Formats: sequence, structure tokens, C-alpha cells
Amino acid sequence: MTKLFLKLTINSFLIVCATVSLQAQDFFKAHAQINPYNYSVVKEKVFDHAAVSSAHPLASMVGAAIMKDGGNAFDAAISVQLSLAVVFPGAGNIGGGGFMLSRDKNGNLTGLDFREAAPAKAHKDMYLDEKGNPSATKSRDGASASGIPGSIAGMFSVHQNAKLAFSKLIEPAIELAEYGFVITEKEAKGLNNTRAQFLKNSSAPCAFTAKSNWKAGDTLIQKDLANTLRRIQQNGLAGFYEGVTADLIVKEMQHSEGIITKEDLKNYQPKIRVPLEFDYRNHHIISFAPPSSGGILIAQMMQMIQPYDVQKMGANTVASVSLMVEAQRRAYADRAEHMGDPDFYKVPTKTLVSAKYIQDRMKDYVPGVVGKSSAIKAGQIHESEQTTHFSVIDKEGNMVSITTTLNDTYGNKTIVAGAGFLLNNEMDDFSIKAGVPNMYGAIGGEANSIQPGKRMLSSMTPTLITVNNKPYLSIGTPGGTTIPNQVYEGLVNIIDHKMTLKAAIDAPRFHHQWIPDAVAFEADFPEATVNTLKANGYSITKRGYFGRMDGVIILSNGQREAAGDKRGDDSVAGY
Ligand code: DON
Repeated sequence: MTKLFLKLTINSFLIVCATVSLQAQDFFKAHAQINPYNYSVVKEKVFDHAAVSSAHPLASMVGAAIMKDGGNAFDAAISVQLSLAVVFPGAGNIGGGGFMLSRDKNGNLTGLDFREAAPAKAHKDMYLDEKGNPSATKSRDGASASGIPGSIAGMFSVHQNAKLAFSKLIEPAIELAEYGFVITEKEAKGLNNTRAQFLKNSSAPCAFTAKSNWKAGDTLIQKDLANTLRRIQQNGLAGFYEGVTADLIVKEMQHSEGIITKEDLKNYQPKIRVPLEFDYRNHHIISFAPPSSGGILIAQMMQMIQPYDVQKMGANTVASVSLMVEAQRRAYADRAEHMGDPDFYKVPTKTLVSAKYIQDRMKDYVPGVVGKSSAIKAGQIHESEQTTHFSVIDKEGNMVSITTTLNDTYGNKTIVAGAGFLLNNEMDDFSIKAGVPNMYGAIGGEANSIQPGKRMLSSMTPTLITVNNKPYLSIGTPGGTTIPNQVYEGLVNIIDHKMTLKAAIDAPRFHHQWIPDAVAFEADFPEATVNTLKANGYSITKRGYFGRMDGVIILSNGQREAAGDKRGDDSVAGY
């Protein structure tokens, strides 16, 4: 199935290649309404035909223009992903991976897994020293932390459903890299704060280190990245996974004990995963199956709270937060024990989301009683902080939901010298030693141990909703292990509390992940609720914002309403 998918991709690419010089055009000259040197953030807007919501205004505007030019949501998604790799380097990427969930206009669902994979030389104990102690830095910093990147292979697979030539879809990203764009204050801060790590972890200085004091309004030009993108434009998959780019990746490995080889790159394949579907109060929810934990977690948590009148409890009240946290505690205990790459570990997905299992898990739940994670273990099965999300819905009703990541902000802080892009530190999403927390405090065991070729367990939760079999919502967010909880809370805000998409996205969030046994609240969460929960016996922590949720919803009159999270530069566009 996957082979066929890729073969078709390569064939369609050959046709594209033959016409590349005719189709490549000066994108920004032809779309003068998009000015990379002067743009603004649009947080919420209703469009008649098609809309995009992403982490960056330029990427959203590019996606909207592609659809106006005759592309569909898949075309737009490719251009948005590639543009984000340029304008949002902290998480947008070609050196990372992700998941796409789509529902086409005929109702066909696709789960595309372009998650990074462990290199062939990877092994279970690769981040342990002679005494068996884990090294957090080797799985997070430098080339040793990188899984084999999947994003470019992913985009060529997405292209199966697209209408326009790949060479056209990559052109905006090339021009943004080659001629530059003006950076936001958040980006300037990110680049300044990470400068020392870029210089330490990479074999050579790069575009990000060209200045030591970036300011909002400065122009970031990325010539090496433009050349890499051109190689992909001209040579397709081989422009990244073979030839010059592959040589440069493998060379960069030597600087910090990386183990990715040319064979690893050439052998990388995206995979098709059957999406996970469930119903919640007349809404049909579709989300991502393992190797993401996200779909299972939201299916479990939403089914656990379904018997209760959450609407009556009210949003962010003591009653609704207590109930929702107790569901979080139980679901995340299962994450640690039962979830991993299904090609390497038998994940009991069906059981975990079955009505009987969910009922059993909530048997010991008593409203008003504070649970204890020490008393909650993973269920017995008898059966067998930077990522980015964007959502697109086009005029035909094709819906695309993509979450993509380098794992940490700016990944492993290693720029491939001469190729101009950052590598991921996704290997840290594996359980590097049973019971040892990763950078998100998540623990795991055998299900998520390192094996060559295996995909590390993810929390990314690109999600779609249909109502009465009609397209309704595309949504998702970054945020490590908080992702499934954010999506769960966002959906409850929309479905139970009848919030608008924008209000649901901006609402303050809370997070419990079984271990540590504490509820983390965003700083602006209603004080009264937090204080009562504390008085009731919950351990409480306060955190800055988590996530940046972006979504597009179809209104009852057919218009598309797009909303971008208040927490970032997230911005919407459409027509
Ligand atoms: O796949 C995962 O679950 C993580 N690598 C995602 C990382 C993330 O969301 C960081 N964002 N803030």
C-alpha cells in the first residue's frame, strides 16, 4: 500500500519535472497582495470558500492563494508546510516529521504518518552510559538526537491528492528563503535565545547566527535552505533523501555523534495509518492512531466524560475540571504502558477505546473525590514544547489537519551545514530507559523502547469532525504531552459549552498526565476554580501558555470560519 503510494508519487513527480521550467513562476510577484516584508496577524475571520489557520501569517496567506489559484486543501497543505519550514523555523520543518489526517470531498479518510524513524544503527540502550544511566543531552542535543526526517517524503505523499504541480507548491517557500521575509518579535527572541546552542550544536554558523541581536522587522534570508528546496523542486524525493542534501546531512552527523546514514535516508517511507473514529454527543470525531497516542487518548477521555452533563457543570468550573482531570489521569496511565509504534509493538487500540473498557476504567470514579495516580495503574489488557499545527478546508469540503514537529523548539539546534535546515530531536520521544521521564515528563516502557526503524510514540493529535456525515471541523495544536488534553478541552468547549471556535481555542487550559500527579494550569485560568481544587486536595502547578491551537470550522451557512490561537503569531487567511 505504502509502496504503491510512493511509486505513484514518483511517477506524478516525473510528469511534473518535465514541465518544471514552465510552471515555476515568481510567486510573490504574481501575488502582490502577500508582502513578506509587511504583513499582519489575523486572528479570526469568516471566508466564503476556503480557509487556512497556521502558526504564521505568511504561511496561511500562501495556502489561501494556492487554493484561489485552483489548488485544493492538499495543495495548500503542501505549500503551508514548506513555507512554515522557512518562516517558522522553531517548528516548521523539512528536517522533522508529522502526521496528516484528511477527509476528502467524497468522505475518504487518510491518516498519513510521516513521523521520523529510528536509524538502522539505533538500539535500545543507545542513550545509556556504561553504568546504565540515561543521558538526557544525547537524546535532545545535536545530531545524536535525530530520527530520520519524514516531512519531505510526507509532502510527496500528500501530493497524491493535490491538483497542482509540486514545483509550483514549493515555489513560495523557495522565494521566502531566497529573498527573505521580515521576522516577528517572537521569532527574533527565539533566534537570540537559541544562538549559543545553534553555534555549539552545529558544525558551522548559519543564517540564524548571522546576527546576534535579531529584532522584530529584521529580514531573515536563508540561501542554503533556498538551495535545498530548489534541489527538491528539481529532483523530487531524491533532492532531499539522496545526492547533495543527503551528503550534507550525513556529514553533519559527524559533528555530534549522529548515526543517520545515506541508506537510512534512502529507505525512509511514510506509512498509511487507519484513522481512529468515535462519536461524542452527535459529533463524529476522527483522529490519529498510533504511533500517535493522541487519538486513543481523546477517544478515551471523551467517552469517559460522555455520561456526565458537562454542559451543566459549566466551562472551567470545579465540577467540570475535576471530572476531566480524572479522565486525563486514567488515559495517560495507559499511554505510558500500552502505546508505541504498532509495527513493533502490539498496541491494543480496539480494547483501549471500547465502551466496556472505558466503563471499567471509570468504575472507581466518585464525583468530588480527588484521585491518586499511585492508585491508578494502566488498565489490564486481556486482548491481545515546539511543534506546529495547521488546518485547511477548501471550497469542495476537503479537510486537512497536519501537526508537524522538530520536537523541541528549533529541534536539536543543529543546522545541517550548507543545507540550511534544522534537524529534529525526536529520539527523545522514545522511552530511553523504562520509567525515566523524557523532556515532557512522560514515561514509558517496552511499548516505546528504541528499535531500528521504529517510530517514537507521539502526542500529536490532528483531528477532524463531521456532523451528519458532513465536514465540520479541522483542528490541532502543539505542546508535547499536553496536546491530547488541549484537543480534548477544545472539543468539549465547542461541543458541550457551545463556544465559538476562537473562544474555545483561546480558553485557558489545564493538564494532568498521570505522572506527575499534579494539575498544571495556565496562568490566566480562573483563580477561584484553581483555589478550590487545591483546597479539595489536588496538587497544583502554574505554567505559561501551552500550545497554539489552530482550526477551521464550517458554519451552518457553509462559510468557513478560521481561528488562530492568541498564544502565538498564529494567523488565518482564506477567500
Ligand atoms: O510528537 C510529539 O508528541 C512531540 N515530539 C511533540 C512536541 C511538541 O509538541 C512541542 N511543542 N511545543
